[in-house]
Order: sequence, then structure tokens, then C-alpha cells
Amino acid sequence: MEKLAAPRGTADVYPPQSERWQSLEARIHQIARRFGYGEIRTPTFESTELFVRGVGDATDIVEKEMYSFTDRGGRSLTLRPELTAPVVRAILEHNLLAQGPQRLYYVGPIFRYERPQKGRYRESHQFGVECFGYAEPEADVEVIQICRELLRAHGIDATLEINSIGDAACRPAYRDALLAHFRPRAGELSAESRQRLERNPLRVLDSKAPEDRAAVESAPSFENHLCGPCAAHFSRVRALLDAIGQPYHVNPRIVRGLDYYTRTVFEFISDALGAQSAVCGGGRYDDLVAALGGPATPGVGFALGLERFLMVLDAVGHDARPARDGIAVIALGETARTRLVPLVAELRRESGAVPITIDYSEARIGSQLKRADRANARAAIIAGDEEIARRALTLRDLALRTQSDLEEVADHGAAARSVLEWYRALPGEIVPGTLAV
Ligand code: HAM
Repeated sequence: MEKLAAPRGTADVYPPQSERWQSLEARIHQIARRFGYGEIRTPTFESTELFVRGVGDATDIVEKEMYSFTDRGGRSLTLRPELTAPVVRAILEHNLLAQGPQRLYYVGPIFRYERPQKGRYRESHQFGVECFGYAEPEADVEVIQICRELLRAHGIDATLEINSIGDAACRPAYRDALLAHFRPRAGELSAESRQRLERNPLRVLDSKAPEDRAAVESAPSFENHLCGPCAAHFSRVRALLDAIGQPYHVNPRIVRGLDYYTRTVFEFISDALGAQSAVCGGGRYDDLVAALGGPATPGVGFALGLERFLMVLDAVGHDARPARDGIAVIALGETARTRLVPLVAELRRESGAVPITIDYSEARIGSQLKRADRANARAAIIAGDEEIARRALTLRDLALRTQSDLEEVADHGAAARSVLEWYRALPGEIVPGTLAV
């Protein structure tokens, strides 16, 4: 029989990796709350039309990356390739804009049929924020700050690259300028860029194909084609970034791969990521709410890839190993197990967030201790023949490799409280590079 495996481009997350995910997610919820953003959860699949209209039918995502299927009722549905369009659909469906500006965030999976490689998966996870109702540049800077706080909290140094891609007033003239620049050079362009040229010439600017480099480098920059209001918006975004001490680099090649953007677009880039260098991408989308049937409402947001974020963390050496946590109960033989099962029950009742595990196997003490160590437990309680004879338990600190005895008492509740008192008094473990949540 063929071996069953996870689909290409997807991954399982299990201990101890899942602990890193949990602590990253905990920090995300904390930071979003601090900025006054509330969590929104939307379905994993939506009508295909939402993405065709929202993300744009000339984008790579809609043209070739969607997981679309027809359900048994004949509807065309798509596993969400991103969450901005679904969030807009949800706020319109529930009329949330009637309550004024909305600040929302989400954490969850997205699906894109891409060629899997380092930092690029078919199922990946995003933390994103969307701020609706403010056309002011302050909102652009607010969402950038959320991303910056998350990066900073983990000691990550990523470069902010920003650009403005104008609006409906100035983009047509810029598009014409790009066409006038690229058309005479079409022969030198890559096949993909030639194809993109007529449908969406802006996308030629973010081509990574080496044969496109010369034509892209000499292309006119949008900065010189912005209309008055867009130019004023961009210059205020930059002034505000200066005011909060956020360094940035204006990169005229950042155009983003989704059609809904207007004015500010940005990415946080890390050298640690190689070719897939953006850990986060976002921007303003002032026409999207109206395009999906709602009242004209400005919006701005970003999404950050959790897999890429964890890759950057690995590269900077943080969180290599989480601090030890929990008590492993080692009962050697059936008599010991009979005595320790009620103690474990009491420990779990009283332990709060401290994980309590017990090994039921007949393995020797050496291999049980090794397992506890590998599971990153902080302490072990050991009961074997010798302890039974002494009517005691051995308490072992697995980090400092010291141990002490606990006189056995008849009352399991009292014994559990003594064990936990001992555990909580253990000195703090110093793990290089680990940041507490
Ligand atoms: P995006 O640039 O397509 O934007 O994705 C944002 C981030 O998600 C990327 O920078 C990357 O870290 C991660 N990501 C995307 N696709 C993959 C993949 N296949 N594998 C691994 N990571 C991936 C958006 O999705 C917009 N909705 C962002 C936004 C929100 N704009 C305004 N509001």
C-alpha cells in the first residue's frame, strides 16, 4: 500500500514546534488587543466570485493559484487564498460599518496552489489586520506599527519598504506611461511579463526574471505620476513614519500582487528569507468595499505569514528551545503506578498551567528520564521499589540535575500541594534567546 502523507506544500505542526506557534499566537492576540483591534473569524471557504471580484481576475492568485471546487449543490467555492476580501464580505453582511470605523484582525490558514519551496506553501497561515473607515495617513502608519511591534517583540530586524501606487485618478496616466515604456521593449521581456503587459502593466514592475531587469530598472516611477491628493498622502505617511522613528526605504518596484490596492503599499523584508523575502505585505484599499457592493469606505491593512515569521526567528536564533515546563511522573512498576495515579489526579486538579504527564510503560528509569528530558519537562517525580520501601518520592529538577525527597503522606491533595510548592520554588531556567510571552 502506498504510504499516506500530508499533501505537497502542507505541513503538520506537533510538539515542540506547536509550542512556538502557540506562543507566537498568544503574542499576536496580545499586540492586536493593545492596538484596539478585535478578532474576526470567517469561513475557510467562500464563493469563488468573492475572490474574482475582490482580488482581481488578472492576478496570479485568481488566474492560477486558487483551490476552487464545485460542491454537491453546484456552487463554485474556493478555499480562501487571502482574508481581506472575506473580511470585507463579512463586515458588509453584518452591517458593521454602521457602527463607525472598524479595527479587526485574524489569524488563520490560507490556500494557494503555488510551487512549494522554502517559505512558500500551499497551505500557510496569516496574521492580518484590517482598519476600515479612515482615509487618513495616520491609519496607514498605525497598521505598520502593529507589524513593527510584533517584529520588535521578537527582536527581529526587518526592513520596511513602501511605495504609492496612486488611485483611480492618477493610475490610468501612469499605466499609459508604463505601456509606452515597455511596449518598445516587449521583445526583451520574459514570456510572463509580455503576457502581463497588456492586462496589468504594473505587475511587470515586480517581475523577478533576470531578462526583465534592465527594462524594469529604467521604467518610470509612480512617484512622479501621482496626482496631488495621492502625493500629499504619501508624503504625510513618510513624515509620520519619521515621527515615530520607523526607518523605511521607498521602493518603486513594490506594486503587490493583488488588484485592490490604492495609494500606500508596503512590505517588511528580511534577508533571512532568501527569495521569498516578504514576511509581511499590505497597503491601502480605498475602493474595495464599494467594489464588493458596500458604501464607499476606505481601508488599510496587512497580512504576515506565520511560517515565514518563524523562519526568520530561527535565523536570528530566538526561541531555539522553549523554557522547560511541567512535571513528568515516573512510576516504576504496577505498585508504584497504583500509588501515583491518585497523586497525578490531584496534581492535575491543582497545577494551574503546569503540565503534568505520567509514563505508564515498563521502561527502565534511565529511558523514562530521557523521555521526560526530551519532552522538555522541568521536573520529575520518581517512585520505584526503593522509594516505596522508604515511603517517599524523589523530586528531581531536570534542568539543574538536583534532587530531593518528599515524605509520603496519606492525603494525596496535601502531597500534590507540597509537590507544586516545591516545583514553583525552583529557580528560573535561563534559556539563551528565549523571550517570555
Ligand atoms: P500577500 O502579500 O499575498 O498579501 O500575503 C501576505 C503574506 O502572507 C506574505 O508576505 C507572506 O508572508 C505570506 N504568504 C502569502 N502566501 C504564502 C505562501 N504561499 N506560503 C507562505 N507564506 C505566504 C495578502 O494576502 C493581503 N490580503 C494582505 C493585506 C491585508 N493587505 C491589506 N490587508
